Amino acid sequence: MLLTKILRSAVLSAMTAALVIVPAHSASAAPTSAQDEPGPRVVGGTRALQGEFPWMVRLSMGCGGAMYTNQLVLTAAHCVGSTGNNTTITATVGVVDLQDTSATKVKSTYVHRSPTYGTSTGGDWALIKLATPITGVPTLPITTTTAYDTGTFTVAGWGAATEGGAQQRYLLKANVPYVDDVTCRDAGSYYSDLIFPAELCAGQMATGGVDTCQGDSGGPMFRRDNANAWIQVGIVSHGDGCARPSAPGVYTQVSTFASAIAAAAANLGGGGPTPTCGPFTNNTDVSIPDRGAAVTSSVTATGCTGSTSSAQVAVNIVHTYRGDLVIDLLAPDGSSYRLKNSGSDSGDNINTTYSATVSNETRNGTWRLKVQDVASADVGYINSWSITL
Ligand code: ARG
Repeated sequence: MLLTKILRSAVLSAMTAALVIVPAHSASAAPTSAQDEPGPRVVGGTRALQGEFPWMVRLSMGCGGAMYTNQLVLTAAHCVGSTGNNTTITATVGVVDLQDTSATKVKSTYVHRSPTYGTSTGGDWALIKLATPITGVPTLPITTTTAYDTGTFTVAGWGAATEGGAQQRYLLKANVPYVDDVTCRDAGSYYSDLIFPAELCAGQMATGGVDTCQGDSGGPMFRRDNANAWIQVGIVSHGDGCARPSAPGVYTQVSTFASAIAAAAANLGGGGPTPTCGPFTNNTDVSIPDRGAAVTSSVTATGCTGSTSSAQVAVNIVHTYRGDLVIDLLAPDGSSYRLKNSGSDSGDNINTTYSATVSNETRNGTWRLKVQDVASADVGYINSWSITL
């Protein structure tokens, strides 16, 4: 991926050696020929750090993708065959080095290819359902608005580092600026069919030199949202060569297809972005006064990525009349979500995992479980609770 280009001053005979990525961070990686040399003559992509883009997926047909839920990979339609059962694809997740033996590898079970791909509407996207969920890997949320369809984008992939070049062992990344639709369409005859609502262009028009390339297809183009979380705005689709001047990369405009993607995911049993961080647990008992004030117990989520619209809350309360209890989840920003109302259930204790739908809450921060006993007679205590975000 990320075709890099020698500077004008570079000696031509050095070209072959120079057309490789210089790792910005050689940290945990074993030296390879791809990382040796070229030195300061190369501009463009650099190596991604392990864990920097944890939702990146390498697909065995030679494409990229991003974890949309813990069991669905969002990729490009042109990377997959038709909609239906498909057990031929292997997804590699959790590593920047494709030869890292700690990689998680899971087979596909089903492919959903955008029904509008290849029509005048466009829509180069597809979802791949995996045989099993992948735990512990964050998902990359997709933008649902056009607000982020501008600015500077980040791209990443294991595709060719030069036009016509070899696929890469290590994940590479680069930043590419937005190119507006009219400028993109007018960049040359290759771009004359640009579908404005369906495609988003990016690249360095004047100089070229930084781009995605063959094998990066299906991978995400992303940026920071207003909450500083990564959000996907594009899917690597096509381009006229790689990294040529006046030849931007063309990306699927995710905002246009966000609701179609979400609907397809729901159908596939992917169910929208799923919890992937935690659990974070509090095991300290908190007594619940009889028909008294609400009490709270908190946990602090750290090391998570971005925001979420769902939370799994496992609650263990010892109590002699659980119908007396009202339980709420409080998000770090104070938003309150009702998990349970009071009622006539006279049973003892609560040992339940609630699935809370929350409104795009930042994962990191202090979450609180709020419990109130609203009827007299019975008492108890919060034994433990945990949250997975
Ligand atoms: N279609 C290519 C693939 O299948 C991606 C090409 C992206 N090209 C570009 N210049 N940005 O991998």
